[in-house]
Amino acid sequence: MIYTNCYIENDPELKDIVVEDGKFKEIIPHKEYSSEIETVDLKEKLVIPPFVESHIHLDATHTAEKFLFLHSSSGSLFDGISNWAKIKAELTEESIYQNALTAVKQEVSHGVQYIRTHVDTDSVNNKAIKALLKLKEDLKEFVTIQLIAFPQDGIKSHAGAEEKMKEACKLGVDGIGAIPHYEYSHEYAVSSLDFATSLAAENGLLVDVHCDETDDPSSVGLETLAVKAIEYSLFDRVTASHTTAMHSYSDAYMGRRMHSFIDSRINFVANPLVNVSLQGKFDTFPKRRGITRVKELLKNGLNVSFGHDDIQDPWYPIGDGNLLEVLSMGLHLTHMLSHEEVMNAYKLITYNGAKTLHISDNYGIKEGNPANFIVLDADNFYNVMINKSVVLYSVRNGKILAKTKPADIKVNL
Ligand code: FE2
Repeated sequence: MIYTNCYIENDPELKDIVVEDGKFKEIIPHKEYSSEIETVDLKEKLVIPPFVESHIHLDATHTAEKFLFLHSSSGSLFDGISNWAKIKAELTEESIYQNALTAVKQEVSHGVQYIRTHVDTDSVNNKAIKALLKLKEDLKEFVTIQLIAFPQDGIKSHAGAEEKMKEACKLGVDGIGAIPHYEYSHEYAVSSLDFATSLAAENGLLVDVHCDETDDPSSVGLETLAVKAIEYSLFDRVTASHTTAMHSYSDAYMGRRMHSFIDSRINFVANPLVNVSLQGKFDTFPKRRGITRVKELLKNGLNVSFGHDDIQDPWYPIGDGNLLEVLSMGLHLTHMLSHEEVMNAYKLITYNGAKTLHISDNYGIKEGNPANFIVLDADNFYNVMINKSVVLYSVRNGKILAKTKPADIKVNL
């Protein structure tokens, strides 16, 4: 099979993609083929690697419409957590599976093929972990799903949390989480991070912490997480998600700590669509933007990706799994709208996400890798962002996994 006549990433020359046995066999200059050869004409559209969802909570998705009391919520992170406590008690393994499946289908329709989901470990018999492990197995041919055991109510401040985390390890999660800003004290926050990183190190797992998801600059879990990544030699197997408090850290503090973040080589995930809405809730005016220092981290050589975080749940009542919407919000909030920044912005939801998920070895459009890619309805990424282009095709192992027809809009002027 040959996918012909496309632009690959920022290459200005038209190329053809030769696929064999589900892998990229060759990327060659565009040419014409005889009718006996099976080809798909991509009509000079843009091809990039599939989108990577580096942060979502699949177990909570699609609960907002069923629980109408959510509509009177203040919309703060902490209200979201207490509303979630009421909701999760009513969910079953089957309903969690079905809600998550709906969300995965939405994400796949928008070009996502790799997903890291945080999964609440505070449920009876770890039902959320079991539901999503089943989903991961059922869908593994079509979408790669990674599970992070997420202690939603804290590790040190919540009775039984440590045992639930250890149980999740035995069930087969890919990584360990923590939520230091929700612990009762700074001492508990530090201790919870030591528990999570040591558990990951013992079990050969990844780490992804909900870290300092607050506007409070005294929330400094990140400095401990960076130190633990070094102490346990976990380095880039560790990710700090959210880190919105960094928005409010002083420049002097950042200047003092940046070298430890660099030495730790940890990844960062920002969730601009959700955090711009969740944060700033205690501010009158000005209201903070709820985003970490993306541009500054990137300039210092650190890896940053963007995630959706929530789809129609107690923290975010809308959303449909479209990472291009997340990206657009992120570029605005971080003042990253120069031509070069927009042209390369796709890396925040492709390569950088792959690095966070620790899957870079088999990811990307190069010979020998699985033939996974998406085709966008534009000739370059700048035009994708201008036109809000759809994902025309999502190709997995050389076969079309999802396709979308662009809207046919006519204006009678
Ligand atoms: Fe999250």
